[in-house]
Amino acid sequence: MLLLFLPHVSTLHALCLATSTPASSRPSSSQLINVIMAPSAVVDNETAEAVVVPQSANTAPYDGTQTPPAIEVASSLDTEPEMKELFGMKKTTTIVTGGARGLGLTIAAAVLESGGDVYCCDILDKPSEPEWTSLLRKAKRYGGEAHYDVLDICDVEKTNALFRSVAQRARFPLKGLVHSAGTMHESLALDYEMEPFRRILKVNVEGTMIVAQATARIMKEHGLGGSIVLIASMSGSIANRGLFLTAYNSSKSAVLQMCRSLAVEWGEYGIRVNTVSPGYVRTAMTNLLLQTQPEKLDRWESDNPLHRIALPHEIKGPAMYLLSPASSFVTGFDARVDGGHCAW
Ligand SMILES: NC(=O)c1ccc[n+]([C@@H]2O[C@H](COP(=O)([O-])OP(=O)(O)OC[C@H]3O[C@@H](n4cnc5c(N)ncnc54)[C@H](O)[C@@H]3O)[C@@H](O)[C@H]2O)c1
Repeated sequence: MLLLFLPHVSTLHALCLATSTPASSRPSSSQLINVIMAPSAVVDNETAEAVVVPQSANTAPYDGTQTPPAIEVASSLDTEPEMKELFGMKKTTTIVTGGARGLGLTIAAAVLESGGDVYCCDILDKPSEPEWTSLLRKAKRYGGEAHYDVLDICDVEKTNALFRSVAQRARFPLKGLVHSAGTMHESLALDYEMEPFRRILKVNVEGTMIVAQATARIMKEHGLGGSIVLIASMSGSIANRGLFLTAYNSSKSAVLQMCRSLAVEWGEYGIRVNTVSPGYVRTAMTNLLLQTQPEKLDRWESDNPLHRIALPHEIKGPAMYLLSPASSFVTGFDARVDGGHCAW
């Protein structure tokens, strides 16, 4: 049990020493707990005795990237960022993939409402109307810019070229990516043909890596950090009842794991990577399924404690939390937005 709380290797060493010495000379369990729980205590490997490191030993100057000394925290209340600033995207550029419609277009609107500029891209020739025209109106109202480019996210060269051109064209540095492009296909696993199976993995997994990498390269170069939000799905954590989505579910699971892997590699550049995992949301993707299987709606609604499916705007808040400085200490995290579906 005690091992679960071990803060560092020297303490582990102390425990090993303690358990291999005669019971009479071992430290008591309360002494060991003191060593384990005290962050400023280290253990002399020879004697297995706790040695308290004096405060003055921490001589590294505070540069804003380390854990701040307590005294600075206490005095910062009047100057620390307020809520509007924390959730604001002023003077930033965000790329939104899958931005022609659905969740991508809705989150693009959220970026504009938060004061940022947005560059949408999608494999579709044109974004959906009348939504795009409303988005442009919104851009005007909030003093932002909204642009649209055609892009297949599976094309590595074109993705890197487009993102670089966005970084050059944009008024403000590229600080955000919302990756909403994705695709779904249903088939019984026993009958699944490899061509559509591969296509799902290509778009949802490979495509995610391509856009995340292209974005992070630019963010690393400009040295200002940034936030990458990948739209995964609750289907990355569970198998949907009554739907046969082996490829899609596997692909979204991969996105969750990719998020954690990228987060740990890119944290040192100030680049955060997080996922949003929606439950069922009313978009073109779900409408398509409901057209052929309308009985699914009852099932989806009764599968969560809120007894309904979501509207696209209900994903705006969680996505903007992860995209904005409001989540500056959050990375490698999945925000499940599923009406409690996975709570059952
Ligand atoms: N709607 C839901 O219930 C739901 C639930 C969980 C997760 N999601 C995820 O949310 C994201 C957005 O889905 P949505 O519901 O808005 O669906 P949607 O179909 O309306 O939007 C997806 C967009 O991705 C684009 N796209 C597909 N392949 C592409 C490619 N190769 N290159 C560029 N763009 C491509 C499509 O053209 C489309 O505009 C998807 O990743 C989806 O898996 C949706």
